[in-house]
Amino acid sequence: MKFAQFLLKNGSAAGIPKLVERFAKFSPSPLSMKQFIDFGSANACEKTSFVFLRQELPVRFANIMKEIDYLPDKLLSTPSLKLLLSWYSQSLMDLVEFLEEDPYDKDVLKNFTNLLITIRSRHNNVMPTMAQGVLEYKDAFGVDPVTNQNVQYFLDRFYMSRISTRMLMNQHTLIFDGSNQAHPKHIGSVDPSCDVIEVIHDAYETSKLLCEQFYLTSPDMEITQVNAKQPGKPLDIVYVPSHLYHMLFELFKNAMRATVETHESSPVLPPIKVRVSLGSEDLTIKMSDRGGGVPLRKIERLFSYMYTTAPSPVHMDNSRNAPLAGFGYGLPISRLYARYFQGDLKLYSMEGYGTSAVIYLKALSSSSVERLPVFNKSVLRHYQASTEADDWCLPSKEPKKLGK
Ligand SMILES: Nc1ncnc2c1ncn2[C@@H]1O[C@H](COP(=O)(O)OP(=O)(O)OP(=O)(O)O)[C@@H](O)[C@H]1O
Ligand SMILES: [Mg+2]
Repeated sequence: MKFAQFLLKNGSAAGIPKLVERFAKFSPSPLSMKQFIDFGSANACEKTSFVFLRQELPVRFANIMKEIDYLPDKLLSTPSLKLLLSWYSQSLMDLVEFLEEDPYDKDVLKNFTNLLITIRSRHNNVMPTMAQGVLEYKDAFGVDPVTNQNVQYFLDRFYMSRISTRMLMNQHTLIFDGSNQAHPKHIGSVDPSCDVIEVIHDAYETSKLLCEQFYLTSPDMEITQVNAKQPGKPLDIVYVPSHLYHMLFELFKNAMRATVETHESSPVLPPIKVRVSLGSEDLTIKMSDRGGGVPLRKIERLFSYMYTTAPSPVHMDNSRNAPLAGFGYGLPISRLYARYFQGDLKLYSMEGYGTSAVIYLKALSSSSVERLPVFNKSVLRHYQASTEADDWCLPSKEPKKLGK
């Protein structure tokens, strides 16, 4: 049963397919860091933000809801996916109620902020729920290469959409309900001068604590930095510190685990080396460990959602007790955070020696623009592509004997 049919069966949500069609006709409007800052600067205007979000959030929800429809039917009919769809439908309906409301009415603005808080918590468990659905599907029907490719394509887009809608909702609630006293210089969750070295230290320390709880030891860290843009000045960029922290924390956990596990019998652990450089275009962070590395053949798989062990919904949001590894979403989600503002995350490994993980971020706030999925014909082509013959020869097991 397709999404639209499912929703039609569900009485209260009878209007949903129409709403999805209506809003999916619009493309999402990516915001730049500069725009995020302007929305929250001294002359921040709650009305403008409200008028933008009551249209933009439904557009982003509807665009990704269209794509959900192209997942395999058997995945769509799992209880987890049904639950997840009900959250998306409810949130879309709730938001649309504000379309006719008066932006000059203070109560309307207050109710809207409250709605964003409700939606944010309603969607708290989207990730473990989706992961659970994928797992149920995988256990029941196995994974074929086409499904794996489609689910990977979809989940990268789906989680990216979620990162973006949460970013928008966080900005509005943090800026306009005045609750961001902890960081007066921040604009919502954006730090106009995010001190990269400080975030690296924070992420290292937290990961080190976890590592010591687990293994009773942990590797040291060595940082080197180069500011080619303004020599001698601190390395700072306009960025969302919590996103950067997330990526670094995941990379440190992986590097520490690999280091400790491959040096079990040696008295000293090789340090994790972090090098940061700021150029005119990129801010690059390279984290190198000597944890034995990963063969090239397996690198792509490390970013896969379907090849990993099951994320447990119970543990997923209990991050304080999170083990050093386990859910397998560390790398793929970190890469999405890096890509969200036009950066990237790559792994380079030397099997037998160690791994370098590199985070690329945009150095200029004018280049840091949201990277958002949009539903269109190219997306359809992607989902409808079937297994075609490979256009590269497959090595045969028995090489043909060539005549002498
Ligand atoms: N620096 C590294 N050295 C060696 N292997 C690594 C390294 N980083 C990642 N890996 C391998 O990649 C796998 C996937 O990493 P990822 O962070 O995505 O998931 P995880 O660590 O298994 O679980 P979690 O969701 O808790 O992060 C790891 O299980 C590990 O086998
Ligand atoms: Mg990990």
